[in-house]
Amino acid sequence: MKTKAAITGIDAYFPEYILTNEELSQMVDTCDEWIMTRVGIKERRILKESGTGSSHLGAKAVKKLLNKTGTSPNEVDLLICSTVTPDMQFPATANIISDKAGIKNGFSFDINAACSGFLYALTVASKFIESGSCKKVIVVGAEKMSSITDYTDRATCPLFGDAAGAVLLEPSKDQETGIIDHMLHSDGSGEKHLHMKAGGSVKPASYDTIDAREHFIYQEGQSVFKFAVSRMADTSVEMMKKHNIKSEELAWLVPHQANMRIIEAVAKRMGISKEQVMINIQKYGNTTAATLPLCLWEWEHKLKKGDKIILTTFGAGFTWGAMYLKWAYNGNNIK
Ligand code: UT7
Repeated sequence: MKTKAAITGIDAYFPEYILTNEELSQMVDTCDEWIMTRVGIKERRILKESGTGSSHLGAKAVKKLLNKTGTSPNEVDLLICSTVTPDMQFPATANIISDKAGIKNGFSFDINAACSGFLYALTVASKFIESGSCKKVIVVGAEKMSSITDYTDRATCPLFGDAAGAVLLEPSKDQETGIIDHMLHSDGSGEKHLHMKAGGSVKPASYDTIDAREHFIYQEGQSVFKFAVSRMADTSVEMMKKHNIKSEELAWLVPHQANMRIIEAVAKRMGISKEQVMINIQKYGNTTAATLPLCLWEWEHKLKKGDKIILTTFGAGFTWGAMYLKWAYNGNNIK
């Protein structure tokens, strides 16, 4: 039987500052009632310290993870960082995080698949474990979304938050638990609905791009909403059918946290109850590549060895997918 990759530890880090709907209502023409009913976000965290970026958040999460799992930085073979808000265009934020966390013996690189980034990175990481070329891999989703959010645009500024989540991936100790399957998709024709207009090689930064506020997230919300529901639901249902998982057997659905209504619609189409779904969007908003590890981290104490879990995401690209895994350890006595 081939080796499975299993998540054997998880941790997260949030900046302290809490941006509430009340504060946002003083910045743009919005209100708590609209944000709660249309999106389901109450508050989000914002990294305020000047001179700090996604690597600051990622390194904090990774250091906590190393400490919690008793892993020496020297043992880490590979670190993959998923982010759309890298510290700089280059070098990779993964390299900077590794340096800050004292990881010197391995290699590291970034993956950009927007809100699906963590799922993509976890999939890539699992291949290094399954092939036997790595024994300990860290996957970190780290985002300072506030750095590309336009706080004069009410259509996008309530949605996003800053955070990082990290997992340790190792060969599963048994044949049963770990990552069982993944289905990843991308469709570049979705680019027009969700992107950042300037700052890349097509339109480098200039006075004009700054005046036109083109260094921020551009999103056509309604189009993205429809794609997000259908793609996440279809892929998750396909995964359940392929592995013969009945609705009541699924311990947890871990969906990307972009909109409460998207999450509810996906759960409904999968025929599962809201009690089977990890939801913390109200506290953190959409943290892009960090949403999935933040959920797993928050629910870790409830997770039991063998729990059947489906992760599913949708994001800019478009990118989307689902992963089926059986949880590898009992989380109830984790400190
Ligand atoms: O994570 C990556 C993938 N991203 C997503 O999955 C996001 C998908 N999209 C969404 O979640 C939703 O489309 C949004 C939350 C972005 C927007 O919700 P919506 O229900 O689609 O609203 P809408 O854009 O259709 O706007 C409805 C109305 C508009 O007013 P009119 O034209 O009907 O008078 C907007 O101007 O709501 C207005 N509006 C607001 N009102 C108060 C838009 N933003 C706000 C706001 N406060 N913040």
